[in-house]
Amino acid sequence: MREVDFRSDTVTKPSPEMLEAILAAELGDDVYGEDPSVNKLEDKAAEITGKEAGLFVSSGTMANLISILAHVDRGGEIIVGDKSHIFKSEAGGASALGGISYYVIPNNSKGLFNIDDLQESFRDSTNYHHPITSLVTFENTHNNCGGIAISPEDLNPIIDWAQSHDLPTHVDGARIFNAAIKLDVPVHKMVKRIDSLTFCLSKGLSCPVGSVICGDSIFIQKARRIRKMLGGGMRQAGILASAGIFALDNMIDRLTEDHDNAIKLAAGLETLEFIDIDQKLVETNLVFFNVTNEHKEKLNLFLESHGIKGGSLNSNRWRFATHYGISAEDIDYTIQMVNSYADTI
Ligand SMILES: Cc1ncc(COP(=O)(O)O)c(C=O)c1O
Repeated sequence: MREVDFRSDTVTKPSPEMLEAILAAELGDDVYGEDPSVNKLEDKAAEITGKEAGLFVSSGTMANLISILAHVDRGGEIIVGDKSHIFKSEAGGASALGGISYYVIPNNSKGLFNIDDLQESFRDSTNYHHPITSLVTFENTHNNCGGIAISPEDLNPIIDWAQSHDLPTHVDGARIFNAAIKLDVPVHKMVKRIDSLTFCLSKGLSCPVGSVICGDSIFIQKARRIRKMLGGGMRQAGILASAGIFALDNMIDRLTEDHDNAIKLAAGLETLEFIDIDQKLVETNLVFFNVTNEHKEKLNLFLESHGIKGGSLNSNRWRFATHYGISAEDIDYTIQMVNSYADTI
């Protein structure tokens, strides 16, 4: 039976060429700074993002945590969106491990913030009752806001606000390459005005493991120390970094295929009565839709019995992520199966 796994772009497996690159990797001890593949990946990431330096880490969650700890002292506070991954899905790490509080403000439908909300969240640093506002964080693409790609122009007012309050900015760019491809803007332009970013190699870029933090050299030096403190120093990590180098060279442009597949899937689902989806809101590789209460469980079981995984049973809101492991034929098959389900009603 055909298997189509829409649960996440993290389920991607390395291509045969990526596995060859892994086998051929030059290795050393990265905690001594001697792994040539890790060094090459970090330099390449810095170049692509237009930042001074990069740091290879094990996951997106660790990348965001290290970045926050490098920007903010204990007793500081960060501004986060209520739908952001940092706030919702990273186990409160900055608070638990860094003594840092979160000031949560609403993400609008585009994943952005209102300036009034930002202003409201800003603490008076002369008032010793308050924590110290220390960082503004964004997400791009914004997962929970539908995989929206946020353009530099859209971000400008927020960055203007942050800079006028002397606040550094950090972007969780787990899928920043999806945003860059969608907007046809190089990543270095997307993040030019942002102080630090993280991006994931292990999502649409199909690597088995890893994320990279990019920023100025002093920030990355600090981040390197924190990575060690968290037990994230890896030894012959070139095994993993070589996949990252391969991905940055070969897996970025193909993200358009995932975006095209997402749009095709959305178009196929839009015709069905028990599914509520707006195709126009599908911008990158994430397809969100609502399934009516009556059908959500039955549809899920039907799809699973035909090898299709995805969605969410806890709510009516489902997410299907397209990625390197899903072909145009898999999309046709999925649409066909959802229609077969409709025929059973
Ligand atoms: C927007 C976003 N940021 C960060 C992460 C964390 O990445 P990881 O699973 O590698 O910790 C994810 C993972 O799904 C994500 O979607």
